[in-house]
Amino acid sequence: MKQLNSNELRKLYLDYYKSKGHAVIGSASLIPENDPTVLFTTAGMHPLVPYLLGEKHPAGNRLTDVQICVRTGDIDEVGDATHCTFFEMLGRWSLGDYFKEYAIECSHDFLLNQLEFDKDKFAVTVFAGDEDCPRDEESASYWKAQGIPEDHIFFCNKKHNWWGPAGITGPCGPDTEMFIDTGKPKCSPECSPACDCGKYVEIGNDVFMQYFKNADGTFSPLKQKNVDEGMGLERMLCILNGYKSVYETDLFSFAIAKLEELSGKKYGEDEAMTVAMRIIADHTRTATFLLGDVKGISPSNVDQGYVLRRLIRRAMRYCRTLGVDDSALVELAKLYVAKYEEAYPYIKENEPRIISELEAEKDKFAKTIEQGLKEFDKIVAHLPQGMTVFPGKTAFRLYDTFGFPIEMTAELAKEKGFTLDREGYDKAFADHQALSKAGAEQKFKGGLADGGELTARLHSATHLLNAALKIVLHDDNIQQRGSNITSERLRFDFNFPRPLTQEEIAQVEKIVNDEIAKDTEVKLEEMSVEDAKKAGAIGVFDNRYGDVVKVYTIGISKEICGGPHAKRTGELGHFRIVKEQSSSAGVRRIKAVLEY
Ligand code: ALA
Repeated sequence: MKQLNSNELRKLYLDYYKSKGHAVIGSASLIPENDPTVLFTTAGMHPLVPYLLGEKHPAGNRLTDVQICVRTGDIDEVGDATHCTFFEMLGRWSLGDYFKEYAIECSHDFLLNQLEFDKDKFAVTVFAGDEDCPRDEESASYWKAQGIPEDHIFFCNKKHNWWGPAGITGPCGPDTEMFIDTGKPKCSPECSPACDCGKYVEIGNDVFMQYFKNADGTFSPLKQKNVDEGMGLERMLCILNGYKSVYETDLFSFAIAKLEELSGKKYGEDEAMTVAMRIIADHTRTATFLLGDVKGISPSNVDQGYVLRRLIRRAMRYCRTLGVDDSALVELAKLYVAKYEEAYPYIKENEPRIISELEAEKDKFAKTIEQGLKEFDKIVAHLPQGMTVFPGKTAFRLYDTFGFPIEMTAELAKEKGFTLDREGYDKAFADHQALSKAGAEQKFKGGLADGGELTARLHSATHLLNAALKIVLHDDNIQQRGSNITSERLRFDFNFPRPLTQEEIAQVEKIVNDEIAKDTEVKLEEMSVEDAKKAGAIGVFDNRYGDVVKVYTIGISKEICGGPHAKRTGELGHFRIVKEQSSSAGVRRIKAVLEY
C-alpha cells in the first residue's frame, strides 16, 4: 500500500481520472440546491443529480472531483474510530458514457496498481438481484476478467448492494463495493464483506445508476446509464497508513494535539477523554465548513441552522467533559482553516465569519445553559421517586426554551441515572412542527402539473425575486443566503438588515408579475466563468461546473445556475409573497407562491 497524506491522495485520484479523460470539477456547496428532501450534500453525486437524469453537463460526460459532504444521521456514533459528520468523497462519474466494464477496470487499476492494495486481501460484492433489478453477473464477470478470484466475489441483496437515492426520490441503482480484508478471523462460516464484524472494511463503491426511485417506492429506468464512484478520503487515508482511527490522519492529528495541549490529557489513555476529543475535533471541523461554506449558514432553530447549532453545542458540552474552555472551538477552527485553505480557498476568505459566529454561539449557549442547568436540576428533584425514564415532553421543553440539544439532555439524564424517552421527545417535536407548519404552505397544493414542473417554475420565480429585491431595495450587495423549493412554495433567504415594508413587498411582487406578463423565453447559455462575470451574471462562482458554466437569463435576471427552469415566464401564473420574516441575524426570509 502507498502511504499518502491527504493532499497526495486527492491529487493522485484526480490525476488518475484526468488521465482517463475525466474533467476535474470543483466541490459544490454543502447546502444542496433545490432539494427540499435533504438538508446537506451527502455524497459526491448529489450536486450532479440533474446530469445523472440526462441534462448535459458543461464539462462533459466524464467527471471527477473531491466533494465535501455532511452526514448527520450518524451524530450519535461520532466518537468512535470511523464515523465523521463531515468528510470528503473522492468521486468520478460517467454520465451516460461508459458503463460497468470500464468502471470496474478503472476502480481495479486505481486501487491495486495506483494505491497498491494487496490483491490477496481485496474482495468485492455485487448485487444478487431481485424483482426490481436482475442479478449482476455482468459485474462479477468483469471483476473476474481483472483477475479477482471467484471466492473473493460475493453476491449480496439490496440492503448491501444498492445505493441511493440521496433524498427520498432520485437516481439510484445496484452497486459493486470494494473491500480490504483486515486479516481478522471470520466471525462465522458465512462471514462476508456484507458482515459488519470488522473483518472487511469498505474502501470504494461503484454505483450503476440506471433507475429513478419514485415517491411511491417504485423504480423506473433512467434515460441514460451512469456510473457513480465514491471513495471516502478520511477512511482511505486511515487504511493506507495503517492507522487505528481517522483521528490519526493528517486531517485531524494537529487538532487532537491541540486538545491534548489545552487539556493536559493524552489521547488514547482514557476512553471518555478520547471520545470527548474526537467529538470536539469532528464537530468543530464540520461547523467550520458549514459556517465557511460559499452559502455560509448560521446557527438557528430550524433546518441546517439547527443541525449546526447542535454540533457546536455538543462540542462545547464535551469541552466541559474534557476540562477545556469553549474557546477551544475557535482555536481549532483557525487550525482547520489553515489546514484546508489550499484545497478550499474560500474557507480562508470566510475565516472572520467562522470565528465571529462561533464566538456569538458560545455566548448564547453559555447564557442559556446556566439557566437550563438550574431548571434541569429542579426537574430532576421533582421527578417521582423510583422513576427511571426522563420524560420526552420535558426534554422537548428544555430544547424549546433553553436550546438544549437533545443529546445533551440525554447525556445529563444519563449522568443522573435516567434513560431518556426519545420517542416522547420526537413526538413532542413533531407535534410542535405540525402546528407551526399548518396554514399557508399546505393550502396551495396544486394539481396542475407534476411536482417537477411546478418546482422548476418556482425556481424561475426565485431568480426573478432575487433580481427584483435588488431593484426595490436599491442594494446590489443583496445575496442569496439560502433557497429551498418544494412543489408548493419557494423560500428564499438573503442578507438585509431590516424587515421589508408593505410597500416594498408590493413593489417586488409587481416587478416579478410584470416579468411574468411579458412571457419572455427563459434563455440558457454556456460560457466561461470569466464571460459570465463580465455579462453581469450573479450566483455562486464555486467552480462546481468546471471552467464552463450555465447562465440562465430570465427577463431582468441573469444567474449562474444548474437549472432546471420553466421554458417561458408566462408559465409562472401569479406570484405572491406569503411571508417576510427574519431568518437569522442580518438575514431575511421570503416565502412565496405561484397561483394559477
Ligand atoms: N454515491 C456513492 C456513495 O456514496 C458512490 O457511496
